[in-house]
Amino acid sequence: MLTSSLVELPDHAALVAASGGHPVVRWDHDQAGFGRAWSLGGAVGWTVQGRRGLALMALGSGAEAGRLVTAALDLVPVPRIAVPVDALPYVGTALGEGDDWDWFWTTAAPVPRPGERTVVALRPADAADLAELLRVSSPRTSAQPGDPRVRTWFGQRDASGRLVACAAERDQAPGVWHLQAIATHPAHRGRGYGADVTAAATRVGLTNGATAVTLGMYADNHVARRMYERLGFRVGQAFATRAVG
Ligand SMILES: CC(C)(COP(=O)(O)OP(=O)(O)OC[C@H]1O[C@@H](n2cnc3c(N)ncnc32)[C@H](O)[C@@H]1OP(=O)(O)O)[C@@H](O)C(=O)NCCC(=O)NCCS
Repeated sequence: MLTSSLVELPDHAALVAASGGHPVVRWDHDQAGFGRAWSLGGAVGWTVQGRRGLALMALGSGAEAGRLVTAALDLVPVPRIAVPVDALPYVGTALGEGDDWDWFWTTAAPVPRPGERTVVALRPADAADLAELLRVSSPRTSAQPGDPRVRTWFGQRDASGRLVACAAERDQAPGVWHLQAIATHPAHRGRGYGADVTAAATRVGLTNGATAVTLGMYADNHVARRMYERLGFRVGQAFATRAVG
């Protein structure tokens, strides 16, 4: 039987080509952190220096992505991998704890929502309100006020002026908006605030020239999943992040 072997790719353009133009490869590209890249059959993998150290990411069928990761880990020891969920059984290296999460993308502005009109860009003076909102709403949030990677914080206040929902935006790849820290105060959920801030931030990005808007979500977050899908976001990849060893 013919088995494909690991082929090193010279640069990000080669990785995009080898992936067939996969949205994760095109739009989750961290230029500063991008390291080495490989293909194996129809699978691709690359290393990226993230907030929590070097990580190996892979895409492709479970069997091929798992074989790619196993071979690449022999070349570049990394503490973390992010692979398609169905690749885990094929990774021939001991793995530890991690999370399952979905990477979403859209290139189309959502249907306008009346509540978007009251979504505003927050100012440094709003930092204390924002920190309190995130503390009570989203303990697992990936961004906090003052995070240098965030370009704009969006927020929405209720009739009494209380900050009830927020979303952060940063440049993930050139011309790609990545949303994070989307949260609604627990006492104000189910009233459309979350959809309003997400729709507003997505629209601002796409009308200001962003090619795509992306976000990541823990796989068990069914409320957020329904909200994002209703706004036109699609799953680009269901990932499993795991510690190596
Ligand atoms: C996800 C989150 C932002 C949604 O905020 P929200 O303001 O409640 O969102 P919306 O009101 O726009 O509602 C979204 C959908 O969830 C439903 N929903 C919201 N809260 C609900 C609840 N407590 N129980 C059941 N359904 C709920 C809404 O009815 C709506 O569905 P529908 O349009 O089919 O009726 C909010 O639940 C939250 O802050 N969660 C914690 C942080 C988090 O997980 N953020 C997302 C990270 S990716």
